[in-house]
Amino acid sequence: MAVNKNLYEITFHPLKLSVKIPAGISVLEAALQNNIPLEGPCNGKGTCGKCRVRYKGTLSAPTETETRILGPKVGAGWRLACQARVMGDVEIWLEEKQAFHTVDAGQASNYPFDPPILSRVAYKETIYGVAIDIGTTSIVASLVDLKNGGREIGVASCLNPQTQYGGDVITRITFAHQSEENTKKLQSAVIDGINRLIGELVAKTKVDPSDILHVTVAANTTMLHLLVGIDPIPLARAPYNPVFIDYREYKAAELGIKIASDAVVSLLPSLSAFVGADILAGMIAIDYHKETAPSLFVDIGTNGEIVANVKGKLAATSSAAGPALEGMNIHHGCRAEDGAISEVKINEKGEVIVKSIGTAPRKGICGSGLVDLVAELVKSKVILSSGSFAGTADLPPVLGERVIEFQGQKAFLVDPEAGIILTQKDIRQVQLAKAAIAAAIEILFQRLEFDIREVEKIYIAGAFGYHLKPASLKTLGLLPAGLGGHIAFVGNTAKEGARLCLTSKLALEEIVGVQKKINAVELSYAPEFMDNYVQQMNFPD
Ligand code: FES
Repeated sequence: MAVNKNLYEITFHPLKLSVKIPAGISVLEAALQNNIPLEGPCNGKGTCGKCRVRYKGTLSAPTETETRILGPKVGAGWRLACQARVMGDVEIWLEEKQAFHTVDAGQASNYPFDPPILSRVAYKETIYGVAIDIGTTSIVASLVDLKNGGREIGVASCLNPQTQYGGDVITRITFAHQSEENTKKLQSAVIDGINRLIGELVAKTKVDPSDILHVTVAANTTMLHLLVGIDPIPLARAPYNPVFIDYREYKAAELGIKIASDAVVSLLPSLSAFVGADILAGMIAIDYHKETAPSLFVDIGTNGEIVANVKGKLAATSSAAGPALEGMNIHHGCRAEDGAISEVKINEKGEVIVKSIGTAPRKGICGSGLVDLVAELVKSKVILSSGSFAGTADLPPVLGERVIEFQGQKAFLVDPEAGIILTQKDIRQVQLAKAAIAAAIEILFQRLEFDIREVEKIYIAGAFGYHLKPASLKTLGLLPAGLGGHIAFVGNTAKEGARLCLTSKLALEEIVGVQKKINAVELSYAPEFMDNYVQQMNFPD
């Protein structure tokens, strides 16, 4: 019921949380102001369609954007939270957030057990540490016993709460730069996430939070700036000079992390605006800097972060792949959560076999499912090398009948029962993403004057590789044609690297040293990038 003519009651389900808000603000703003976990990946620009909610009550009339994105769902009680404004009392049903899947373990080398914090604090019977990997999408925290061999006694992960303010780094930088208050909001969001994970870990393990004396953080450069409340705008503007990249320490109390107040929080070093501490930590985790075979280390997400190693000469870069490979900006894209299609196979009979995560009804396609799907469609010649759909007359009927018309473009019916499709526009997004990564790989090896056919090892880190088939990466051309080498998926090496820096003085010294040895290549200054990028746009024949 309305309290007065300017305030209305909005109730969020399934949280059953009611708040009074001024008339005219959007449902997304109302959620953000009240810490309701509602994602706005495009930060309310009305382009991603991921903030959809169901409602009952009084909202502003649907906008053109909503009608275009939601289609007939608009009449059936669905709205975009960033577009719909509260004009009376209203009840909102958030989409049931399914369990969020991320990768919380990875390959880790052996470093001598010698926790750096032990020599800095007075003797104590029990001392613990927490290694944290802050990704743009997820946060992973690992609780480690620093008195008993560095045993990991618990791992917890969650969606990065900053996703409420935008799905990708650039949207968040733009939001943070709008005001000091916004930068603080992003800082509090990530600190809240960290505190929640630590709370979960200590509750499970019965560890006293005041026994946690050291935290190591691996993250991309933007996440590190936001963690300490620094406006990251220099990272998005030429000449892309971060405010800091070197190793830094803070006190836990300064940042609001709820452990021993004088615990040390170590921010691991980054290389540049776009190659962060997560990559350097990943290198330490697999001893990549000591690799003797010509090799490639790549972490694929909204940015493809890539390091090439040729006989100990290291060059690194980051290429803006866009959010497609994380399932965003894709008509039926979604995160790697329950109900997400994560694997696709088209057999010789042309049957499409899909596998999804968990047991929830199928809801969309996550990044790895998308790579698989497009690779299988390229292999089956449903998609031509140019990225266009083949004519249905040229396809076996079982596949041809799945190519449909959808809103003035062609689309492929992936799961007829769930109505999940892949549109021509989606394919374009995949082409842009894969071309950005493949071109960056080419350029790194050109800079090292090395023939990519001679590469012997390819390490793929991060959540993206979780369900991926190596063959799909090559069929898609995400790895450039001709690139040699055996592919190994090494998991969440960022967290493992942070954990090693917690348990070994040597690992911490190595990461600080390795930062100085890598040549950072900024692609926006590479004149050959555009040509390479355009060349990589087609799918391999
Ligand atoms: S469409 Fe609403 S946040 Fe993107």
